[in-house]
Amino acid sequence: MPQFNDTELTAAVISSFEETPDPRVKFLMEELVKSLHDFVRRTDLSFEEWDYAINFLTRTGQKCTPTRQEFILLSDVLGVSMLVDAVNHREREGATETTVLGPFYVGEHKPMPHGADISANLSGERMFVQSRVTDLEGKPLAGVPVDVWHADDEGYYDSQRPSYATEGPSSRARFVTDADGRFFFRTILPCSYPIPTDGPVGEMILQTRRHPMRPAHVHFLVDAPGYQPLITHVFIEGDKYLDSDVVFGVKDDLISSIERRSDKVMPDGQTTAEPWHLMTYDFRMKPGAGMAPKPMMAAAEDA
Ligand code: BEZ
Ligand code: FE
Repeated sequence: MPQFNDTELTAAVISSFEETPDPRVKFLMEELVKSLHDFVRRTDLSFEEWDYAINFLTRTGQKCTPTRQEFILLSDVLGVSMLVDAVNHREREGATETTVLGPFYVGEHKPMPHGADISANLSGERMFVQSRVTDLEGKPLAGVPVDVWHADDEGYYDSQRPSYATEGPSSRARFVTDADGRFFFRTILPCSYPIPTDGPVGEMILQTRRHPMRPAHVHFLVDAPGYQPLITHVFIEGDKYLDSDVVFGVKDDLISSIERRSDKVMPDGQTTAEPWHLMTYDFRMKPGAGMAPKPMMAAAEDA
């Protein structure tokens, strides 16, 4: 009957994976066990603490629904999502920086014509967004679908509102780049917002005296054939949470200065009586391949 002390046990568990047919799975399981065992040894984890952790993870799973992924939120606030992003995008070679997808990419991105107002039903300061998608040499990429989504001026995504089921999407759309790689649309200026705090992840954030805020941003998913899918945000310069994003997702290159404008003619020639903001941000795509992420609802339906 084999018996193990606290260090021999690790070797025994690792060797239990000896027959794993897939070498990558074998490697990942071995490394996971090493890291978990190290954590328990370094912290002298008590039974009460172990029990708390099991209970926390159980509640995290129980909070998940087809439109809410509390485990991804946990990964986000622990910096794991940004670390996975970092190790997979070490060399950008001038391509636009990437950041987290976040839990609000729920699909139903309806194709809209250039210039459309994707927040026509919302109050808020009006914003015109203009952008161009190019390769690393600046050659325009035409016919590229770009999914766009952002929070409203109270900090909620459409999918968090009960009205989503009856009224459908808002502040989210798909645009397809023109022959010159350009797309443009109207919307409102988003604001900073808290991640959901009514679950175990929020409880952990509040108990550890962290704040739950993300700085204001617009999400973009640019999926050009022959290029790596680009998952990113454009952050709004001056936001007070840029230095302390709860999910560690801010990168300098993704911060855009938004111009305050009061001229009556907007970049597409249409006139306006209200003051407005102008966001100009171009995306540079890195050659390669990859699967664009599936929206959470679609992934749940496939399961
Ligand atoms: C978001 O930007 O939508 C987001 C990202 C990570 C966690 C929560 C929200
Ligand atoms: Fe967001």
